[in-house]
Amino acid sequence: MSRIVHVNGAFLPEAEARVSVFDRGFLMADGVYEVTSVLDGRLVDFAGHAARLRRSLTELGMASPMDDAVLLELHREIVARNGVVDGLVYLQVTRGNPGDRDFAYPSPEVAPTVVLFTQSKPGLADSPAAATGWRVISVPDLRWGRRDIKTVQLLYPSMAKMAAKAAGADDAWLIEEGGVVTEGSSNNTWIIAGGRMVTRALSHDILNGITRTAVRRLAAEAGIAVEERSFTIAEAQAADEAFATSATAFVMPVVEIDGVRVADGRPGPLTRRLRALYIEEMRRAAI
Ligand code: PDD
Repeated sequence: MSRIVHVNGAFLPEAEARVSVFDRGFLMADGVYEVTSVLDGRLVDFAGHAARLRRSLTELGMASPMDDAVLLELHREIVARNGVVDGLVYLQVTRGNPGDRDFAYPSPEVAPTVVLFTQSKPGLADSPAAATGWRVISVPDLRWGRRDIKTVQLLYPSMAKMAAKAAGADDAWLIEEGGVVTEGSSNNTWIIAGGRMVTRALSHDILNGITRTAVRRLAAEAGIAVEERSFTIAEAQAADEAFATSATAFVMPVVEIDGVRVADGRPGPLTRRLRALYIEEMRRAAI
């Protein structure tokens, strides 16, 4: 597969794209990213991703490389150039290439590095995994303390994913003392008990998921109560339903946690309804 990628204003075949060895993203994980899904060739919840990108940049003292209208055009162009019908757009913004290695940030005159690339995922919304649900394991949350910033520092989530794979599971739920869940390796986590949806409240401990926000809104519109509070692995194992949300998995049922089935071990009815509502609404509103 040869893609066209975007690097600092140029659209190039992926084999010709270059980023410096002195790029701060490479040397320091000094950069942020966004992942926007594409359905029917259109961008899902672009405004949410653009707003979160700006917040991540601000929190790290990085200037915004372009305004939202230009960013939207870049996203649309990379989708069009790669003929993506269903898939993902990755946007990476780093603090750029100061020409040498130094812990101190370079002067603000150093231009950021801006990269966009796509992944084509035909049938993204009909993922077979959604029909059976994910099995997850819990692992300690050993990430840094500003998980609300969507940085490219993804080594621990990768390690957690590998631990899940090694255990024959699909994903890892990250936990603190006492088995309290923060989030999944790359998704927000939810349980449903007694007809109420529960997800952890926003703080520096978790990423403010764009899918999470949309699902909250759809639940409110459907008259389903949503409680924002922490929950433990034990509570999740005993819940009626569990699921994860992200731009890549949408609303993904979770059917087993640390070897314990959630309810009957099949995707729950409310989770399935929320997934259908989410996909329908996102297809309709995509731009
Ligand atoms: N991950 N929490 C973490 C740690 C994440 O990495 C993600 C997204 C989410 C969900 O956010 P959203 O709903 O905006 O996708 C929560 C992306 C998909 C990734 O890294 O691939």
